[in-house]
Amino acid sequence: MIPFVRAIWPGRASAVLLALTLAACARGGTSSSDAGVAPSPGAVAQGLAPVPGAPDFVPEARVPLMAQPEWRVSAAGRVAEGAETMVVSNSTVASEAGDEILRAGGNAVDAAVATGFALSVSHPIAGNIGGGGFMVIRLPDGRAYALDYRETAPAAATREMFVGSDGKADPARSRDGHLAAGVPGAVAGMADALRRFGTMPLARVIAPAIRLAEQGFVVDSMLTLSIRRTSTQLKKWNGELFFRADGAPLEPGDTLKQPDLARTLRRIAERGAREFYEGETADLLVAEMQRGGGIITKRDLATYEAVWREPLRGRFKGYEVITMPPPSAGGIVLLETLNVVSGVDPMPPFGSARYVHLMAETFRRAYIERNTLVADPDFVKVPVARLLAPSHADSLRATIDMTHASATPATLPPVEGQHTTHYITADKAGMVVSTTTTINDLMGNKVVVRGAGFLLNDEMDDFTAAPGQPNLFGLVMGERNAVAPGKRMLSSMTPTIVVSPDGRPFMATGGAGGARISTTVTQLVLNALGNRMGIADAMRAPRFHHQAWPDKLQLEKGGFSQAVRDSLTAMGHAIEEAGPIVNAMGLMRVNGKWQGVPEPRREGGAVAH
Ligand code: DON
Repeated sequence: MIPFVRAIWPGRASAVLLALTLAACARGGTSSSDAGVAPSPGAVAQGLAPVPGAPDFVPEARVPLMAQPEWRVSAAGRVAEGAETMVVSNSTVASEAGDEILRAGGNAVDAAVATGFALSVSHPIAGNIGGGGFMVIRLPDGRAYALDYRETAPAAATREMFVGSDGKADPARSRDGHLAAGVPGAVAGMADALRRFGTMPLARVIAPAIRLAEQGFVVDSMLTLSIRRTSTQLKKWNGELFFRADGAPLEPGDTLKQPDLARTLRRIAERGAREFYEGETADLLVAEMQRGGGIITKRDLATYEAVWREPLRGRFKGYEVITMPPPSAGGIVLLETLNVVSGVDPMPPFGSARYVHLMAETFRRAYIERNTLVADPDFVKVPVARLLAPSHADSLRATIDMTHASATPATLPPVEGQHTTHYITADKAGMVVSTTTTINDLMGNKVVVRGAGFLLNDEMDDFTAAPGQPNLFGLVMGERNAVAPGKRMLSSMTPTIVVSPDGRPFMATGGAGGARISTTVTQLVLNALGNRMGIADAMRAPRFHHQAWPDKLQLEKGGFSQAVRDSLTAMGHAIEEAGPIVNAMGLMRVNGKWQGVPEPRREGGAVAH
């Protein structure tokens, strides 16, 4: 038998040849670069104008989703539909902030930035100015761009900084407290996106967020739960704002006002993004670091830059899939999986054991490569073109036995050496923006910057603290993703836009949920393009996940019949029943209108016009 690992890594010669054709992974330049991905040949690049003879997508709804009596995800009651514009996010008031900007004549980027700042107020468990993210933008003329505003490791970060005296990774330091924070990229990123593609001044798009912070918003049960879960740490690190006067966590129905955050946002609105990196906010952040033993300096902040990168592009059933390149591994997992399944015809029916098995085996292979080969492309060479080549998909497919699960190798092959939120905006010209932003863990590193009123991230935990040892999401990653000063930690975030064969925007999606984001986004795209589901069903359909290490197949509780579970067990899968998998957002263009669906498993709202 061919050893599994060898079989799924084709030879070096082909890798070199393919590397010569490598273009897609190149860094697109700095924030001033004009690099963007031109519309693909064959597609008619345009806004929303219908093309004669090209009918709009009509979901076939062939899949009997409610077949499982135990399946408890609510029926499709939350589809917002609009002829012109759409904002979908985890917070209705933040979606309304984006909608306000669209109503005032802003475009999808203006609205995305407004929604992003509003989420930092109304969805503080994940929305942020103390974290980072990725934004994929597609213009009405078909050009596409990827903005990387991922956090970076501070200059004083070291490879071993999260290894305890016992030689093991020490999650207490990489997840909670000051050392866990990477240099935040959110403000730089949002401001860069606005400068390049927006039409409104920063002050205008931040205004709804400032209003929300000053006037307050009504706390929901998700925020209360999050405060309860992290209250010990929040109380230690300036989190008083999340508690009532008697010290009890805010309850649903309470109003949360954030005067410090309002002042911070006002400073940014008045003085621009540099204020965050060089002004009073930077001073407050560095003072916080010094108080708590953190290492982010004024210089780390002043030198932070968001980076425009060329998005990855793939094709599936004639549709173009535009997604995030490294330092996210999400796009690679998504496109690699689509490449593998595009060679399987017919695909097994949705929800069958064979369908789940094929996808799980593909995810396993994609994750082995993700965890060992992908990292910050400015620090290591990532073989993107090789991983996305059709011949690579052919070799991966050839190793899949449709009757038996393969085994993930026990150790990493020697190649060398939860909190996030997704939002989508679309405008009447056809511009679509798909953004995922994160502070990583619930409440980030649980440190509120004193006087500035925002939570910091614990993104440093996305680095490999010690090879072979799992991070917060159970990801076991290799050397390439080791901590280094200035380096961006590997991500699973997968903001994605799908374009129909006639060149019009068709779908946008992305989500929160750590390592399970990439596999869920892949399933959402496949639900729509392969299984012909409408966006509501695509979002509601039961999900599953495999990430190679640990060698387990997670199935969403109640979503798969006993017979399917038994078959998968018989094939050799170690099945684990999982609660809701991923907090995703979905947008689809149907019959000439935008349809938006926030995650049916979680909170959120879509606002359409
Ligand atoms: O970038 C990543 O892959 C992680 N920091 C994402 C974390 C996440 O999705 C947590 N959310 N619920």
